Amino acid sequence: MRGPALTSAALRGLLDATPAAIGCFDAQLRAVYVNTAFTMTTGVQTGRLLSEGPLAIEVRAMLVGSGAPRRVRIAEAHRMPISGTLFVLEDTLVGFVLDAGAYEALAVLAEEQSALRRVATLVASDPEPEAIFHVVAEEAGRLLHARSAATIRYEGDFALTVGRWVDDDLGGFEVGTVVPTTDSDGLTAVVARTGAPARIEDYRGVRGVAAETMVERGYRSAVGAPVVVTGGRVWGLVLVASAGALGEDAEHRLAGFAELVALALESAEARAEIKASRIRILEAGVTERRRLERNLHDGAQQRLVALAVQLRVLEKRLGEPDKAIALLRGAATELEQALAELRELARGLHPAVLADRGLAAALETLATRSPLPLELEGVPEGRLAEPLEAAAYFVVAESLTNAVKHAEASEVRVRMATEAGELRVEISDDGRGGADPASGGTGLRGLADRVEALGGHLTLESPPGAGTTVRAALPLGPA
Ligand SMILES: Nc1ncnc2c1ncn2[C@@H]1O[C@H](COP(=O)(O)OP(=O)(O)OP(=O)(O)O)[C@@H](O)[C@H]1O
Ligand SMILES: [Mg+2]
Repeated sequence: MRGPALTSAALRGLLDATPAAIGCFDAQLRAVYVNTAFTMTTGVQTGRLLSEGPLAIEVRAMLVGSGAPRRVRIAEAHRMPISGTLFVLEDTLVGFVLDAGAYEALAVLAEEQSALRRVATLVASDPEPEAIFHVVAEEAGRLLHARSAATIRYEGDFALTVGRWVDDDLGGFEVGTVVPTTDSDGLTAVVARTGAPARIEDYRGVRGVAAETMVERGYRSAVGAPVVVTGGRVWGLVLVASAGALGEDAEHRLAGFAELVALALESAEARAEIKASRIRILEAGVTERRRLERNLHDGAQQRLVALAVQLRVLEKRLGEPDKAIALLRGAATELEQALAELRELARGLHPAVLADRGLAAALETLATRSPLPLELEGVPEGRLAEPLEAAAYFVVAESLTNAVKHAEASEVRVRMATEAGELRVEISDDGRGGADPASGGTGLRGLADRVEALGGHLTLESPPGAGTTVRAALPLGPA
């Protein structure tokens, strides 16, 4: 397509240097020509087809309309409206000149995007939340040309400053500052009550200690956006304050920062949960070792010591055969009992048959020893990854022990299946139900930790009087 004047290189050079954004589109909505400012403002490049959107709609309307120039306001992919004038250059060629302000508005948006990106990058690097609290205050404060900014957490009826930035120090918002949110119409109080963004245009006359302090320090206005965490709880807010006025859409611009704070808090919480579960696994290991130590000490070890003493006495009594025979018998009995105890202890540890012959064999052995009938169905015959076999085994073993100890059940059923990349294990008893990981020992919690450590999850269904079902889903592949 040849536009009459657009072929001139000199004219193109001139248009490219103009700060006004200028674009021309043909009937197919191809950008026949766009100058540099236009590309920077809208992202549309010369030669490209205009993608469907507000601008495309306007250009198409222009092509079929009266041809008279028309002022339009379009909101492109972002919320910032762009205004400008559309005019017909030729029958099938539409020009669009954006208002000079559009470029500036978009530059502001770009600034906001890069501030948010900086915070998001920091959040993704999993720092301590305190680092985020400061950076968010700083980025939001700078972006909104505020005097100071703070990240504030609610604690009961109080608001505690946990992150702070100041441009030109009027004081206030020091980390650790606590203000009450009751009897106040200050910003922290309003956001706490409504859970929505809020602003105060002029602190003079606003009720509350916080507002009085703001006036004393020379602040006039402030804007805040709530930090809402999982479950809709209002954790706190991000606040910016100024000695003058703050921009019209400051609330909305703050909201992006508040969301990043929430995200950082959630990932920190998830990290803490993983850490707690690792600690529980370690502690369970330590407790188990102590139990073994104690049992060995009180049981098998005592017997072996007694045996050694008896043998030594025997040595001295060899001249008195009758007594020697009685001692030998006693020693043999001790030895048998020590062996039985050692066997019993070994059973509580990782069963050898699991490592040697796999899950199916280990569960069959468990079934033959079980005091309750144990029905097995769908247990995979082939070998699985060792941690997976161990987890499945212990889920069954602990649930079975629980059924024997607590359920007054008459039978236990185990069903397994491999589907959707998971090994699913289900153990149900027909006992009295009411199992609760939070009461009694640590068996069920330990199972959940073990399963979750492999990237799986454990659920418990145990209504009173209607039996107990434990279900575990364990990913077959790497977690
Ligand atoms: N199958 C079940 N039927 C009825 N109640 C159960 C069953 N399983 C567990 N419970 C109840 O839930 C509680 C918690 O079980 P959990 O396995 O976590 O601990 P525990 O068996 O008491 O001790 P541990 O497993 O540490 O030796 C038990 O104390 C018991 O009251
Ligand atoms: Mg238990």
